[in-house]
Amino acid sequence: MTRVRFLRVDGSVERDIEAPAGANLLDLAQAQGQPLEGACEGQMACSTCHVIIAAEDFERLPPASEEEDDLLDLAVGVTRTSRLACQVALPEGQLTVRMPSATKDWRRR
Ligand code: FES
Repeated sequence: MTRVRFLRVDGSVERDIEAPAGANLLDLAQAQGQPLEGACEGQMACSTCHVIIAAEDFERLPPASEEEDDLLDLAVGVTRTSRLACQVALPEGQLTVRMPSATKDWRRR
């Protein structure tokens, strides 16, 4: 199981839940009412699922693919610990996830 903590843009705690390890972070976030559009439904074409992972948890995730990194380069408000939620499987243990200040759908130019 994974203890998932969703933080608002300002860093305050929005929700603390438990979910099965291996579950998709975007699916979970949307099921929990988090403001992540996920416009391309996990096809890595939009970056509207951009989230910021807590530094201590980020290090425990498998690294992003080159394709994910390229799309993150275009995301708004990206940080060193940014990920695309559609590409993250919940690790065993814990995961703290903060919403970004804005998102951008790169399919709509
Ligand atoms: Fe579009 Fe993740 S849902 S990149």
